[in-house]
Amino acid sequence: MNLFPLVLYLLSLLVSVLGSLPAPVNLTITSVNFFHVLHWDPGPGTPPGTVYHVFRKNEIKKREWLSNETSFTLRSKTVDAQRELHELTVQASYNKTLSPESNKLLFSPYEDTKITSPKLSLAGCGNCIHINISIPKANKRSQINDIQKFYGGKFKILWKKRNGTVEEPYNTENKSFTLANLKRGVEYCVQVHMNFVVNKNTEPSAWECAFTSIVEPRRGEFTFRADINAVMTVVWCFY
Ligand SMILES: *[C@@H]1O[C@H](CO)[C@@H](O)[C@H](O)[C@H]1NC(C)=O
Ligand SMILES: *[C@@H]1O[C@H](CO)[C@@H](O)[C@H](O)[C@H]1NC(C)=O
Ligand SMILES: *[C@@H]1O[C@H](CO)[C@@H](O)[C@H](O)[C@H]1NC(C)=O
Ligand SMILES: *[C@@H]1O[C@H](CO)[C@@H](O)[C@H](O)[C@H]1NC(C)=O
Repeated sequence: MNLFPLVLYLLSLLVSVLGSLPAPVNLTITSVNFFHVLHWDPGPGTPPGTVYHVFRKNEIKKREWLSNETSFTLRSKTVDAQRELHELTVQASYNKTLSPESNKLLFSPYEDTKITSPKLSLAGCGNCIHINISIPKANKRSQINDIQKFYGGKFKILWKKRNGTVEEPYNTENKSFTLANLKRGVEYCVQVHMNFVVNKNTEPSAWECAFTSIVEPRRGEFTFRADINAVMTVVWCFY
């Protein structure tokens, strides 16, 4: 005999008779690039069909939303809200009965959100390598246009020859950087870290590699190459 419907029935009876509903438990938040989702577990014995009130309290006010799931995407419509400390609680509601509020979860978006890795694009330029850094975009709702400017942070650029050891890193605020004074015709690899003082929850980029230019030809060769290039250009033009 399947006891499940019976158990559910008894639970709902219990709720209606005792008028008591357990508080939600295990509040956690997953926050990536300022996209914040609150999760919780229903307290033991919570009947199906229970809905949840989500409360967010900051220094200024308490706000409330309703959810029929055990997760909720937090909406913070101002940049300032990303810098505030949020106190989150959840309360269950079933057939006009309310549970106590859950334990508080404290959440500070700008300190706690995980920033995913930047992407790099590299191009050799003679004895140097140009690096462009593109950082992940913040969730639109956060109103943050540029994560790096929001934090006022720097990039730390690690670099090395492909099979070499890591050299003294560079720090820069710019999303474009040139590694200069390199050997020509050598492959170098670069990894970028985002150094944001208040948020250590950042992922570095992958190591990306590129060759500086091919070995610089001697003068005679150069002219010869230039001629070939000229011829090639002419040929291309005729196509
Ligand atoms: C709360 O989390 C703990 C640890 O993950 C788990 O063992 C427990 O079952 C959870 N409680 C509920 C009511 O789901
Ligand atoms: C939850 O609410 C949404 C609308 O707010 C509704 O479309 C959906 O069917 C509901 N889900 C359940 C399981 O009741
Ligand atoms: C809801 O509560 C009322 C009394 O407050 C009760 O009569 C009714 O059976 C309950 N319904 C459910 C589905 O528990
Ligand atoms: C970097 O970005 C600039 C401007 O968008 C572009 O001109 C340049 O080609 C890029 N360099 C690399 C290595 O992607």
